[in-house]
Amino acid sequence: MIYLNPTGVIGGAEMCLLDILAVLGPSRLEWSPRVVLGDDGPLRAEVEALGVPCSVLPMPDRLAALGDAGLGSGSRARLALAAKAPLAALAAAGYLARLRRALRNEAADLLQTNGMKAHVLGAWAAPRSMPVIWHLHDYISSRAVMARLLRLSARRRVRVVAVSRSAAADATRALGLRVPIEPIHNAVDLDRFTPGPGDGARLDELAGLPPALSGTVRVGLVAAYARWKGQEVFLDAAARLEPGLKARFFIVGGPLYKSAGSQYSRAELEARAEALGLGNRLGFVSHQGDPSSVYRALDVVVHASTRPEPFGRVIAEAMACGRPVLVAKAGGAAELFEDGVSALGCEPGNAAALASAISGLIGDRAQREALGQGGRAEAVKRFDRARLAEEWGRVYNQSLGRETATVRAGRRQGGAT
Ligand code: GLC
Repeated sequence: MIYLNPTGVIGGAEMCLLDILAVLGPSRLEWSPRVVLGDDGPLRAEVEALGVPCSVLPMPDRLAALGDAGLGSGSRARLALAAKAPLAALAAAGYLARLRRALRNEAADLLQTNGMKAHVLGAWAAPRSMPVIWHLHDYISSRAVMARLLRLSARRRVRVVAVSRSAAADATRALGLRVPIEPIHNAVDLDRFTPGPGDGARLDELAGLPPALSGTVRVGLVAAYARWKGQEVFLDAAARLEPGLKARFFIVGGPLYKSAGSQYSRAELEARAEALGLGNRLGFVSHQGDPSSVYRALDVVVHASTRPEPFGRVIAEAMACGRPVLVAKAGGAAELFEDGVSALGCEPGNAAALASAISGLIGDRAQREALGQGGRAEAVKRFDRARLAEEWGRVYNQSLGRETATVRAGRRQGGAT
């Protein structure tokens, strides 16, 4: 079993890969997983720490810089792509040949790809006999160019699994495949993302802020600096709140990917915060290797994506840490919680609505606690990663034309499986 991931940095899609490897990895020898990365980075050590071999087949810069998110829709995206296409195509052809050789040498039965570029490259490079599984973490239909490329690449043996029902429905429309696209919700490590006391003072320190008054409520947005993750909406919402409120705001994360244009820079966000006069009420904390301690240090976690979120790992992680989450309720993110019970929904892109939801939670400790408990309970019920072993195991067995034990048992009992 080979997993192909285009980058070596650890974003949401890579955390999901690590979760799958953790439950289907070395202890399940039948799959003998191996990972191939298109670039070296911290992901390699994390994969290896799970006992899974990992190699790097460096992608040429021209190919790496062809950002997934940058490949938007509309004529500008098409023009930009047309300008870059010939050189990128050349780079892709060379890379494809190397990838094909690598896959042949590995003599694996199955290939799973993460990320749009890997989907396309994997589909073309895999030997005919090797089933390919695309693990879809994104919406496709809003990216006309990429959707076309993916449609062209969706060969007969490509099977698609999406991170939510919403992303699966979008891909079904965009790809026009006859086979159904299966949704499998991501999961989180419930032993790492646990409730418990948080260290707010440490977060203040990481943000370079002076110690806060006791009783200060810490509210934070945890996300990569992709423009659609809503850092600006969060800043605008914070600026609408009474400056006298005993609250502090945090933007946690950083730019992640090589593709420029679709991300904020720290300087840009700092300038925006300054223009809004947020001063010491707001702090920036860089991307943290262990986000669980960040969630625990926060009293309210905000998700503010301005576009529908395919899944939204941060939501599941923060719920698992027993923290109340305000969720921009659209797309797959809306599938993850019961509004008012395990998290609170909010209209995406609406800074005034977000400000009033934040202010409500700042003033209501009991509601914060109830949502935190509801969030943890929902995470335990729905996001335990043990579930992944069964769901992905079934996908792998079916792709290889094998029956699963459950199917066999069902048949023996005359069940309609
Ligand atoms: C992508 C999606 C995000 C999801 C993550 C893991 O980053 O944008 O919604 O949580 O993948 O599937």
